[in-house]
Amino acid sequence: MSAYLLLRHVHVTLALISIGLFVLRGIPRVVLQHPLNQRWLRIAPHINDTLLLLSGLVLMIWSAQYPPAHVWLTLKLVLLVVYILLGIAAFRATTAPGLQKLLFVMALAVFGWIVAIALTR
Ligand code: HEM
Repeated sequence: MSAYLLLRHVHVTLALISIGLFVLRGIPRVVLQHPLNQRWLRIAPHINDTLLLLSGLVLMIWSAQYPPAHVWLTLKLVLLVVYILLGIAAFRATTAPGLQKLLFVMALAVFGWIVAIALTR
């Protein structure tokens, strides 16, 4: 297997872990209104998401596909920022519970959109 394919597998795995950790934090916090106050659960998503971003950047350089020429990549990066902002807003304790749920579902939908773009570009 080429280094590129290997890194792409790593990238996809990091993406799956990212959404897994997001759901694992989001269901107790947003749906049950009882956050899991586990230290590792606050730190792990940041490490994972940094690696996800880095792996994406390396794939971008190795495959020489750059925004804005590659529209799918541009849209993916914009949606990544939207996903992060929705997540921050959804997990904010001062956001009303009803709005937290709406923002959480929107973040999940945006993540699904990012995956759809990656698979169909
Ligand atoms: C939530 C964040 C992300 C998700 C869910 C995601 C998902 C994916 C998936 C599923 C693939 C594999 C597509 C395939 O099998 O052909 C992929 C490939 C790729 N991703 Fe991401 N990604 C994310 C973030 C990023 C970021 C931030 C970048 C760039 C900075 C990036 C750049 C790339 C590149 C260049 C490829 C390889 C495309 C190719 O081989 O032509 N990704 N991504």
